[in-house]
Amino acid sequence: MKTSLVPALAVLAHWSQLSLAQDYPFTEEQKQNANRTLSVGYVVYHGYTILDVFGPLQFLADLSWPFSIELSVIAKETGAIHSRPPAHHGPDGMPMDMSHMIDAQIVATHTFVTAPPLDILIVTGGIGDLTLQEQNDTSVEEFIASRFPTTRHVLSVCSGAGFLARAGVLEGLRATATKGSWAHVTRHGKNVTWVPSARWVHDGKVWTSSGVSAGMDMMVAFLRHVYGDPVVNTSVNNVEYAPHVDPSWDPFSVVHKVPGANMSMAMKELVGPLEVYP
Ligand SMILES: *[C@@H]1O[C@H](CO)[C@@H](O)[C@H](O)[C@H]1NC(C)=O
Ligand SMILES: *[C@@H]1O[C@H](CO)[C@@H](O)[C@H](O)[C@H]1NC(C)=O
Ligand SMILES: *[C@@H]1O[C@H](CO)[C@@H](O)[C@H](O)[C@H]1NC(C)=O
Ligand SMILES: *[C@@H]1O[C@H](CO)[C@@H](O)[C@H](O)[C@H]1NC(C)=O
Ligand SMILES: *[C@@H]1O[C@H](CO)[C@@H](O)[C@H](O)[C@H]1NC(C)=O
Repeated sequence: MKTSLVPALAVLAHWSQLSLAQDYPFTEEQKQNANRTLSVGYVVYHGYTILDVFGPLQFLADLSWPFSIELSVIAKETGAIHSRPPAHHGPDGMPMDMSHMIDAQIVATHTFVTAPPLDILIVTGGIGDLTLQEQNDTSVEEFIASRFPTTRHVLSVCSGAGFLARAGVLEGLRATATKGSWAHVTRHGKNVTWVPSARWVHDGKVWTSSGVSAGMDMMVAFLRHVYGDPVVNTSVNNVEYAPHVDPSWDPFSVVHKVPGANMSMAMKELVGPLEVYP
């Protein structure tokens, strides 16, 4: 925290009833995190998935008011990074032209060479990973592998787990990924225990989430781990977001017929998802 926890919480008191925070059993690490600057690096590439980036970033941005957080948006080159997927081939080998789709851009502030030391590394998912693979462009994987030993927490959203797998950092770990492209992502990596029914998985320093919106639920759980509940829960209420807090909640593993998924989940008892015809 920029000054100290107590004044910051006093300023935040209008958010909610934070007086309880005085009694909250923060871990030593959470107390230290509240008093230090956390350097966050978000790895992006052309064809990134919009919500994979901006969903989790909303919570980080909110918490950068009471806490000291620095953000670097990292890509192969600085400047505008496009969400619109570049030309690539689909899983069936068909050429895919998505140039008519809308395009939201994010500005990369750093390259893989100029990125500062990071406490937290987050890797987005996106269709652009297919283009990078076709071009034999392994710059994202090389960056992850080079930074993994010195980064305290490494997170991926959706197909971002494929980059972690190819970088070799999931070896011996449990992980999950988007259920919509499960086979495509989980063929990568050696000795990875891919968890078929999971909203997100936390193993060691690695957090991996399922598809797109699941990144927001993972980020809420991750931030509670890093900072403790009181300020994080308040922030989530301010965002008016109702996170799934059970990491095994995963009806989409059923929807997408992921092999090994827990098919006994009663989908109708869960919130969403939409049924698909037929
Ligand atoms: C943060 O540092 C200040 C000043 O050193 C200290 O008074 C405060 O207790 C620390 N906060 C936590 C949560 O450790
Ligand atoms: C990528 O590597 C494969 C296998 O070595 C090769 O067949 C292909 O031509 C390469 N593609 C590009 C764009 O370099
Ligand atoms: C694979 O990972 C598990 C931990 O999940 C470990 O016990 C085992 O030794 C690893 N196997 C190989 C061949 O590396
Ligand atoms: C934060 O929210 C989670 C999820 O609803 C809840 O389990 C936890 O008890 C809350 N923590 C506090 C301190 O209110
Ligand atoms: C499968 O899902 C059901 C319903 O949510 C749950 O009761 C059961 O424990 C789950 N089984 C496993 C192996 O996780």
